[in-house]
Amino acid sequence: MDKLKVRIKHIFTSDNNKNSILQQVCDLLRKEVACYNWVGFYFVNKNKKELKLAQFSGKPTEHIIIPFGKGICGQVAISNENFVVQDVSEQDNYISCGIEVKSEIVIPIFKNGQNIGQIDIDSHKMKPFTKKDTELLEFVCDLVSNLF
Ligand code: SME
Repeated sequence: MDKLKVRIKHIFTSDNNKNSILQQVCDLLRKEVACYNWVGFYFVNKNKKELKLAQFSGKPTEHIIIPFGKGICGQVAISNENFVVQDVSEQDNYISCGIEVKSEIVIPIFKNGQNIGQIDIDSHKMKPFTKKDTELLEFVCDLVSNLF
């Protein structure tokens, strides 16, 4: 396991407050991965069919609530699939959080087969994401799932 994964795992085993754990994960990822400029967790409100922003690290966003289907995040709430956007300018259904954001990756979090939320990462770099990012973030999402 690489060093960053060890540090992430350590957060989950050394703390028992869910909010604090999620905040530390956001902060660590943003600090340690150069191309991660904004890192946040959105969670599903099934009744309202919307996502709500929880912990995040980076510039505050006005997109606290995202309806299912809207933007990259809202699409993942419906598709239940990873969404890797190497160039946001190619996306029609995209909610901009700033002109500086060039790419985005969203990985869903599953609990007992249900899509309960997602990790969302914005980057100021074009085409920064590789299989390693997907794999790292799936690792994070599996750990987050165990908190619920
Ligand atoms: N760009 C996202 C909106 C959320 S922000 O990136 C924080 C989207 O299109 O869903």
